[in-house]
Formats: sequence, structure tokens, C-alpha cells
Amino acid sequence: MTPTHEAGWAHVEGALRGPGWLRPPDDANALVPSLWSSTTRKVDGNLVVGQVPIPELVANVNTPAYVLDEADLRARARAFRDAFADYDVYYAGKAFLCTTVARWIAEEGLSLDVCSDGELTVALRAGLDPARIGYHGNTKTEMELMRAVAEGVGRIVVDSFDEIERLERVTASLGRTAKVMVRVTAGVEAHTHEYIATAHEDQKFGFSITAGHALEAVRRVVAAPGLDLLGLHSHIGSQIFDTSGFEVAARRVLALHAQVGEELGVTLPELDLGGGFGIAYTTQDDPSDPAQLAIEMSKIVEHECRALGIDQPRLSIEPGRAIVGPAMCTVYTVGTVKRVELDGGAVRTYVSIDGGMSDNIRTALYDADYSCTIASRESGAPPVLARVVGKHCEAGDIVVKDEFLPADVRPGDLLAVPSTGAYCRSMASNYNHALRPPVVAVRDGVATTIVRRETVDDLLATDLGASDT
Ligand code: LLP
Repeated sequence: MTPTHEAGWAHVEGALRGPGWLRPPDDANALVPSLWSSTTRKVDGNLVVGQVPIPELVANVNTPAYVLDEADLRARARAFRDAFADYDVYYAGKAFLCTTVARWIAEEGLSLDVCSDGELTVALRAGLDPARIGYHGNTKTEMELMRAVAEGVGRIVVDSFDEIERLERVTASLGRTAKVMVRVTAGVEAHTHEYIATAHEDQKFGFSITAGHALEAVRRVVAAPGLDLLGLHSHIGSQIFDTSGFEVAARRVLALHAQVGEELGVTLPELDLGGGFGIAYTTQDDPSDPAQLAIEMSKIVEHECRALGIDQPRLSIEPGRAIVGPAMCTVYTVGTVKRVELDGGAVRTYVSIDGGMSDNIRTALYDADYSCTIASRESGAPPVLARVVGKHCEAGDIVVKDEFLPADVRPGDLLAVPSTGAYCRSMASNYNHALRPPVVAVRDGVATTIVRRETVDDLLATDLGASDT
């Protein structure tokens, strides 16, 4: 049975249609520009990023590989910097961090948000000014706090009463003062296209405003001699498109900010509204650009401050995904193509690649949607609905649930998945003893490996029995 037909995919008996939003393309070779980094092109069927043809890059570094478009990443960082000129912009390193990217981010005028000793180490190793580093985390250890304070990290975002006590001990023992923000739960659970103001309190992050914990945390920080309170911090979620979530959060957080002024007589100089700005993974997504976001967020804050009769605090935001996400794609080699007959006679084309959930867990973990394209040739074959799966021992090891690929997709083809810069390499694992792929930066025709591929020796370095053999 063949899944294609002269008259097109939809005319095949029992053809799979995929999700409603996924339209069969007129040309399965063509790129959807909004899903790819700004320098990405197709030239004679070959994907070209940063003027580097991907087949050439693969000939040198093999697959799977993350390809990072330096110009694109820098431009996104700059766009946030310029649009939010009156704010401090902290790049959320959890999305993706290595020393080179930390340096680029700093060169573009951004600060950095870290949430572990590992991320802090990368930032310091990259030579970043500790004063421009913010430190997050809902359970920072005494050792982590000790190091953060000793290094002179610019702000520590406290997230529990235990942590406030711990930080007091740490600052006392070091004879230092720590600048602190209090992470509050604004009572908003933001989703891609909606916000739900109910289940929000039931989570591990932050101090609840509603329960009065946030005000109590502020009181304790203000009373602690070694802690210098900068302000409140609110982060409502990730991959958010609807600014109404930010609006509700800003209103509640600013109300608390004003209450702190009234009841404690403390004017907090700063306020952080967090990150979470959505990006396009597929044609379903329509993100706002930083300029639009800045206008909307500033309007909300101005309006609320005026209504509350307070001066505007210095604002900061923490975008991660929106800066690095669209700047990277992942390139794989197709290993097998299997046409599986489903109940009712429809056929699903399974395209297996040489990576999978170890380099992109987001599909398996969040049911995320991705798209893909053949990166190494042009095809005249009609489009067929395919599912791109990894090589791991797991049926849920899916990278792209549904995409139209040319029906002649075959072993040896290079396949590229866009928008994999955020939370892919940073959440990669060694499942099945996979070697985590390299990150290769491309710019003006030059490819530079900035994170090398892991080796078997890297894997065995922690296996203390390995030296016996
Ligand atoms: N600030 C704080 C306090 C955060 O917790 C996060 C993300 C950010 C900023 C940056 O959010 P972004 O702008 O990147 O959306 N692994 C998930 C996302 C988890 C986000 C965790 N916090 C994913 O792959 O979708």
C-alpha cells in the first residue's frame, strides 16, 4: 500500500489527516520562514544556516547536531534590550547556557538569570559580572547560597521561609549583605491562549499573595540585617502568548508592592515580571515581537502604578525561550522509514532518526508540537503525513508528532527540526547511553563547535567500575 496518490495525499483511501491546524503544503520542500532562524534558507533543497550549508556542516560534525544561528540569537537579545530599554533584561540561562552564549548575551547588554551552582559556574567561567547575575531556585542549598553571596551575585530570588533563614545565616557567617527579591505567586496560571485563576496556588514556587505569605516574607526580609530587599518577583509560566496573564499578575503584584509601601513604609526600588514569552514551533503559534510586548507590559504597569498612586519601580524581565529558542535547529539523519498500517487501513509513515527524546524531551514530556524539513535534497514526491521518532527504547520517543514530508523520504536524508534552542540541549539526557549532541554555531559561512559532542569516555568517566576492564 502506498500512502500517496497522484491527486495528492488527501485522496488516498483512509489517508491520515493529522491535526486540524496542519495543512498539507503545496511544496513539501519549502520552509515556513516564521519557524526558522532569520538566516535560514533552502538552496537547491539544502538547508543553509548562517551561510553554512547543513550537509557540509554534517560532513564535519556528524548528526545529531544542534545548529545555532549566532546572528539570530544576538538579534533577538538586542531586540529585547532595545524594546525594553528602561528595564533590566535577564536572559534565563535554563533555556540554554554555555560559556560562549553567556558571553554573547553579556555583549548584547543583557544580564543573566541562573538557577543552580552549575549555571552560576558557567556564567562566572564566561567572565560575567556577578553583579549582573540573578539567582533563582526553590530549594537552594546552604552551599549554593554561600557561593552566590561570596561571589557577589546581584540578586537572590528567595522562594521560602526556610531559604530566608538560611540566607540570613549565610550572610551573617560571611559578614556580607545579599540583595534579595521575593518570589510571589500572583494567583495566575498562564497558558498559551488562556489563563486560569484557580489551580494556581497549588505549586511549589513562590510565596502566595492571597494567603498572606508574600507580605510575611517581605516583613522577614526587611527585618533581616544581612538582607537588602530589592523588590518582588513574579513569573507566571512559559510559552505564553496572551498578555492578559501578565496583566492580572502585574496588577496583583503591584498591589502588594504598594501595600509594602503603606504598611511597612518601605519603597521597593525594583519589580521583576519574569519571562515566559512564547515562540513559534508550528504555524499554530503567533508570537508577539519584543517591541509589542514592551509596549503592552509598560502600559499595564504605568496604568496600575497610576491607579495605585505609586512611583514606578525599576522593572526587569527574564526571557529565555524567546531569545534562544528560534535561534537553533537540530539536524538528524534518517535511519529507517516504516509504513505502519493502522486500524481502518490508514498508513502512518514512521521516520526514525539518530536522536530523539535524549536531545529533545519536549514532545514526550509536554506533548509539544514541532515541525521539520528534509535538509539535504529537493524532492518532487508528493507530501505524506509522517511521524518523526527517535532511536530510544520507548514508544513515546517522538520528536515531531505530525509533519508533511516528501513521500520518498529515505534513510540517509538529513532532517532538520526548527526552534529547538530552548529546553532541548539544556534538558538533554544520556538515556540509553546516548551521547549528547554538539552545539555548532554558524555565522557568515563559518561553523564553530561551541559545545562538543559527548564521547563514550565522557560517559564512562563517572563509572567507577570502568577502569577494571
Ligand atoms: N524566569 C523564571 C523564574 C523561570 O522559572 C523561567 C522558566 C524563566 C524566567 C524563563 O522562561 P522562558 O522565557 O524561557 O519561557 N522546560 C519547559 C519550560 C520550563 C520553564 C521554566 N522556567 C519547556 O521546555 O517548555
